[in-house]
Amino acid sequence: MKLPYSEIEAKVFPNFKGGEKNLWAKMFSDGSNRILHGKLEPGATIGMHCHDTSSEIIYILKGDGKVLVEDGIEYLKPGDCHYCPKGQSHSLQNNSNKEDLEFFAVVPEQDVFEKMKARRSIRKFRKELPSKEKIEKVIEAGRWAASGRNKQSSIIVAVTNKEIIQKLTKINGEIAERHNPLGEFYGAPVVLIVLSDKNWRNKVYDGSLILGNMMIAAHDLGLGSCWIHRAQQEFEMPEWKDWLKNLGIEGEWEGIGHLALGIPDGDYPNEIPRTGNKVFWCE
Ligand SMILES: Cc1cc2nc3c(=O)[nH]c(=O)nc-3n(C[C@H](O)[C@H](O)[C@H](O)COP(=O)(O)O)c2cc1C
Repeated sequence: MKLPYSEIEAKVFPNFKGGEKNLWAKMFSDGSNRILHGKLEPGATIGMHCHDTSSEIIYILKGDGKVLVEDGIEYLKPGDCHYCPKGQSHSLQNNSNKEDLEFFAVVPEQDVFEKMKARRSIRKFRKELPSKEKIEKVIEAGRWAASGRNKQSSIIVAVTNKEIIQKLTKINGEIAERHNPLGEFYGAPVVLIVLSDKNWRNKVYDGSLILGNMMIAAHDLGLGSCWIHRAQQEFEMPEWKDWLKNLGIEGEWEGIGHLALGIPDGDYPNEIPRTGNKVFWCE
């Protein structure tokens, strides 16, 4: 797979990781691996930072580089490679005051914590279905979610039928009272609907956790997903209640949410910073 670096937009990051001057970079990420073509202008640095959840490999293409590591300094010339193992800290510096330091850096396959951070809601999908094996794995991750009193009362309806997805898109847009030109499901070839027993008091919590598990699992499998709301209103409608009955699903169900699922198309969305102080300690 040739990565399309000629088409990737270059961005300038001033004081990257608390460093000096500018980093110019073309970044590729598929949500699991990050591969960066970077240049540090003369005198520029990437600040000291810890790779607490993933390693990094830096290969020097041009210029004169210096890496500060925890126990010393490494000098790097074109063709040299620096490896920062998981758990260690480093800072990359342009050691020249004349020319750029040019390099490729790879932050490979991340652990579960990094993956949770890297997961984004995907709103553009390829038309083709992901493999059934992958869809089943996503569903299985949902099945393993915790549930209040271990009731396991929620169900997942996996829809790949195009006609039904079209109908869901239409009704979901009507409930949202808007016209999303991409469709409320963004053209996803799979919609996983989570419903919970209407009479179970933990129905929303249990169902939401299933959706959360499935989003992380989808991301881990290289798939994209997005929670699509308004399932509650949909499954109040006689037409959709009948649809469940026709699938052989008896009982009273409350729609918790849909997961639009598929193979992401286009650039992976950028990180969305978590804002504000939302954590309070009592020690
Ligand atoms: C309860 C809930 C309902 C959501 N409903 C929708 C929706 O109807 N349409 C949509 O495009 N995204 C929906 N989202 C996705 C959020 O917009 C998204 O999670 C948020 O913008 C943060 O982005 P991230 O998932 O990439 O971190 C929903 C998310 C949650 C948790």
